[in-house]
Amino acid sequence: MTSVSFTGVRKTYGDAVALEALDLSIAPGEFVALLGPSGSGKTTTLNLLAGLIDADEGEIRIGERVVNDVTPDRRDIAMVFQNYALYPHLTVFENLEFPLKARDRRVSAAEVEQKVEKVAATLGLAELLHRYPKELSGGQQQRVALGRAMIRDPKVFLLDEPLSNLDARLRIRMRRDIKALHEAIGSTIVYVTHDQAEAMTLATRIAVFSNGRLQQFATPAEIYSRPANLFVAEFVGEREPVLLEGVLTGGSGRMIFETAGGMLTLDGAVRHLDALAGRRVVLCLRAEAFRAGREAGEGDPATVKLVELSGPDALLTCALPGGAEICVRAEPNAGFARGDGVWLRALPDRIAAFDPQSGTALCRWE
Ligand SMILES: Nc1ncnc2c1ncn2[C@@H]1O[C@H](COP(=O)(O)OP(=O)(O)OP(=O)(O)O)[C@@H](O)[C@H]1O
Ligand SMILES: [Mg+2]
Repeated sequence: MTSVSFTGVRKTYGDAVALEALDLSIAPGEFVALLGPSGSGKTTTLNLLAGLIDADEGEIRIGERVVNDVTPDRRDIAMVFQNYALYPHLTVFENLEFPLKARDRRVSAAEVEQKVEKVAATLGLAELLHRYPKELSGGQQQRVALGRAMIRDPKVFLLDEPLSNLDARLRIRMRRDIKALHEAIGSTIVYVTHDQAEAMTLATRIAVFSNGRLQQFATPAEIYSRPANLFVAEFVGEREPVLLEGVLTGGSGRMIFETAGGMLTLDGAVRHLDALAGRRVVLCLRAEAFRAGREAGEGDPATVKLVELSGPDALLTCALPGGAEICVRAEPNAGFARGDGVWLRALPDRIAAFDPQSGTALCRWE
């Protein structure tokens, strides 16, 4: 298990800055997802680590060793790309043994066989060793690509959107396989994705990028419930949260949030917002930060505008009396319909506040 670190790393292409002032420290054995929209610098970060491109400034380490001037083949890493390009004219066995033979011609046939069988067993490929890539499903091909990366027992695995060519169901199955694989082999993994759900389920920590800058590096739970800024708040989660600007007043366990489109009461669990009384803020309101009730007094009054069934939940779009819309999760069998009156009770401990100008988080979490 090996650590990885970037210190003050910058990469430009001509006038375009692809990566700016990157500081990132990955612990041995971590599974880190690099998450961000297209063009945010994820692949650049991975390619710098692999040695496929050079940094303009800063230092990159794998373990204790500074690798800025080390060639890719000497960095002891393995990379799996989006288009995993197996050799079509070689069987699964031959694809798996290829990196061993390419690297060291003296390795014995018995040793090669033993290693291939071990990797094939780990990845559930033992029955498929004599097939050709075209005789495999997408998921099986993907596992062969992973196996080919594992066979040399690298210190660090780099994966760039390895599941993006697979259909939705298979992606979810492969996510589980990759997670199990990480638990089994314990290697350090750096995994690029623009799919927030993939990052959330796989990673021990997520590095969120935007415009070549690291926005936050934290556990999935923290990224989700304590986003460092509005960009992170909007980018993670199955749905975009509602962002409402207004003024917080009150304190000591009860605050009122006044917006142009209506008012919300935040009762209890507002300690992280206490210092913000009197301030204009943007609140990040996620669907699960509210309970929808039918009885008068169960929170603030609103009207149901839209009901969407999504698997186990119903999502209600509700309008406050002043017109502000909030999305709320409810039981599907609660039977809410368009036009119904509804009472919204906010769960303040799930609500984060941000500065309207800078977008930076203002909460003081304990
Ligand atoms: N070889 C190159 N020449 C010029 N600009 C480049 C080159 N490679 C990347 N860039 C630019 O650097 C920025 C970061 O690119 P990068 O490939 O790291 O993004 P990404 O986060 O991996 O995006 P995607 O999700 O689309 O793969 C982008 O603005 C991109 O256009
Ligand atoms: Mg990329």
